Amino acid sequence: MTKTERPRTQWLGRWGFVLAATGSAVGLGNVWKFPYMTGEYGGAAFVLVYLVCILSVGVPVMMTEIALGRRGRGSPIDAIRRMANESGRSSAWSLLGWMAMLCGFMILCFYVVVAGWSFAYLWKMISGGLAGSSVDDMAAIFSANNANPWSLGAWSTLVAVTTMVIVGKGVQSGIEKSVSWMMPGMVIMLVIMIGYGAFSGGFVEALDFLFAFNAASFTSEGMLAAMGHAFFTLSLASGAILTYGSYLPRGASIGRTTLTVAVADTLVALMAGLAIFPVIFANGMEPGSGPGLIFMSLPLAFQAMPLGTLFGILFFVMLSMAALTSSISMVEATVSWLTDNKGLSRRAASWGAGIVLWVISTLAMLSFNVGADWTLLGKHFFDWLDFLTSRLMMPLGGLGMALLAGFVLKSESLREELGLSPLAHGLWLFMVRYVSPLAILLIFVDALGWLEI
Ligand code: PFF
Ligand code: NA
Repeated sequence: MTKTERPRTQWLGRWGFVLAATGSAVGLGNVWKFPYMTGEYGGAAFVLVYLVCILSVGVPVMMTEIALGRRGRGSPIDAIRRMANESGRSSAWSLLGWMAMLCGFMILCFYVVVAGWSFAYLWKMISGGLAGSSVDDMAAIFSANNANPWSLGAWSTLVAVTTMVIVGKGVQSGIEKSVSWMMPGMVIMLVIMIGYGAFSGGFVEALDFLFAFNAASFTSEGMLAAMGHAFFTLSLASGAILTYGSYLPRGASIGRTTLTVAVADTLVALMAGLAIFPVIFANGMEPGSGPGLIFMSLPLAFQAMPLGTLFGILFFVMLSMAALTSSISMVEATVSWLTDNKGLSRRAASWGAGIVLWVISTLAMLSFNVGADWTLLGKHFFDWLDFLTSRLMMPLGGLGMALLAGFVLKSESLREELGLSPLAHGLWLFMVRYVSPLAILLIFVDALGWLEI
């Protein structure tokens, strides 16, 4: 069984994989989630743990996933099973693929709701519905936006349908084609965001909040959150990167590609922080005000800027695109698995997955209105989807991938697939064998309270 006996669709262009993987990584995680989590967990200590996790866990695990995908030539389940069997190991390792595929799908179920916010705000920007001059006005607009299940549901449905239409068109003419024009658009967004932070007062305070490290703000919960977010932001352990890797032609450098994606993703997150926190501080807002943070602070800033409406429209167009280039990657593992194993056409698989997505995401959407009292242990369904995936499934999945690559699979196969220099390979191996598993375990155990650090 060699790769040549398993023909598989491949990215068409030289940049296909890089654009698609960067598109997957850069998303609401960077612009929406990173700033509000940083606010919730006290700033620089969170940022530091996050950066350490990106380097010590995220980068090596991403390389592993791309290599597994390209060599296993299949969805996470199939690729991991093949790789395990090739090394004479149990097919049970494919459970890791199942967890990843499920995790990507669960993320998508709440992600479309947040992407729906972005679409709704784009519409408000265009139609003048964001008029208001105080922080309280913006908070009221955000609440009103969530209060009506019909309009909120319509926006998340629009995102779900758009996602499934793109995915249904296929790897090359759906995913690759859409990222090839949406990703250059993201560059514009970056430029706007930089301009932004400089405009509003409070820039120094924001720098301080993000980077002035203060040991007292370390909490084990914040550390677990930072690690979970490192996985989330790089689209790891959710089937996305592994499946995209399965379409990667041989010959492309996995190491260089991974670094490109990780650096781009980290830069966007930090820039988002530098754009948003100055506004927060300049307007006396609470950094820890949760998921609504950017939807309350950014419109406020746009109002105060010259040509604010124009920039605002551009910004929400870009944010919506960033969300779409991520959402399509979350379901690709599922669609690929369905077409490879269940004899479904791509279109049928996308429709099937889309209907399930619609039902579950509607339940998640209801957490903000009709189902405001439907909580379990104090969390809404929306929060549970986020919590289970980021705090549990992604770190566990990452641990599994690292152990699989580090100890279980035959070392030659991944060495050949990664094609690194001996030094770089040694470094990667050391990371997946010891550093990543230990980091994940330590943070886990600490957060569970078994260990006092
Ligand atoms: N990386 C995306 C973001 O930061 O918004 C989120 C994401 C995409 C997570 C794809 C998981 C995934 F499979
Ligand atoms: Na990201």
